[in-house]
Amino acid sequence: MTVSIILDVDTGVDDAFAILYATRNPEITVLGITCVDGNTSLKNVCKNTLQVLDMAGASSIPVAAGANEPLMGTAGDLGDASHVHGGDGLAGLSSPGSSRALDSRHAVELIRDLIEGSKDPVALVPIGPLTNIALFISTYPETAKKLERIVLMGGSASGGNVTAAAEFNVWHDPEAAHIVFNSGLRLTMYGLDVFYDLKVDQEHVKTLREVGSVSANFAADLIEFRLQSLGSEMCLGDYGAVASLLHPELVESSVMNVVVDTSQGPGRGQTICDARPEAPELYDFRAGKECTVILKVDADAMVKLWMEQIR
Ligand code: BDR
Ligand code: CA
Repeated sequence: MTVSIILDVDTGVDDAFAILYATRNPEITVLGITCVDGNTSLKNVCKNTLQVLDMAGASSIPVAAGANEPLMGTAGDLGDASHVHGGDGLAGLSSPGSSRALDSRHAVELIRDLIEGSKDPVALVPIGPLTNIALFISTYPETAKKLERIVLMGGSASGGNVTAAAEFNVWHDPEAAHIVFNSGLRLTMYGLDVFYDLKVDQEHVKTLREVGSVSANFAADLIEFRLQSLGSEMCLGDYGAVASLLHPELVESSVMNVVVDTSQGPGRGQTICDARPEAPELYDFRAGKECTVILKVDADAMVKLWMEQIR
């Protein structure tokens, strides 16, 4: 049995880990990939994504460009995550770039066409800011209802990374995240509570080098880049969202009410995760809908699964 997915990415070193795994795993059919401004500019994200697909030997998967900036248009002021992912967003490995062109459709149109055209249930896996997904849900709500589920990397029930309160993807476009968390669609949040748990180190690099294939060497280069800036270990990040979709037996979760802070204060971009079964009327701020929040993962098993596919 295979699972059909659409990835929405802001590639990004750890987005690359997710793409490599999803495209190389025979249990997953990647119907298409859509790109959004986030870790780096939309232009870089598109270039990086095509490059990763070439390295994965998966050049036939359609890739479409989406939103150039967050819904409220503040990308220039926000900055990106080049301090984490390198100036090009891909550890300096994006050159020379793919000879392949992008799909001519906008991301929102590609997502719509892929869902409407699929005979199998489709899961949407956003691992960047949620701008494209919010635009898709607002533009094609009836198609969105046909999704089997959304499993997103974003948010946190336990504090932020880019600010004390907010996780990068939600912080980058809180209004878009608000639309997604309020959509009433079947939603799973793979957030910072587990994001950093899937560790890899020099030993993994060594094993990948021994494999020696194009994709294994590329993955090893990406890991080494991050190890140089981070020290002895780093995480597979976004990949975990894809793994949790395929292997629910490896996660522990809780259903919560999640509200996104869209204020301009220090909490902007926070996902307020309310685990209370019911709240006293006076103290009930639960505007969001129910969401499955992943709180624990079997990290060793997930890393092993990733290593098995990167060959
Ligand atoms: C998220 O931010 C990005 O830098 C990563 O690719 C990941 O999607 C983690 O906060
Ligand atoms: Ca990402």
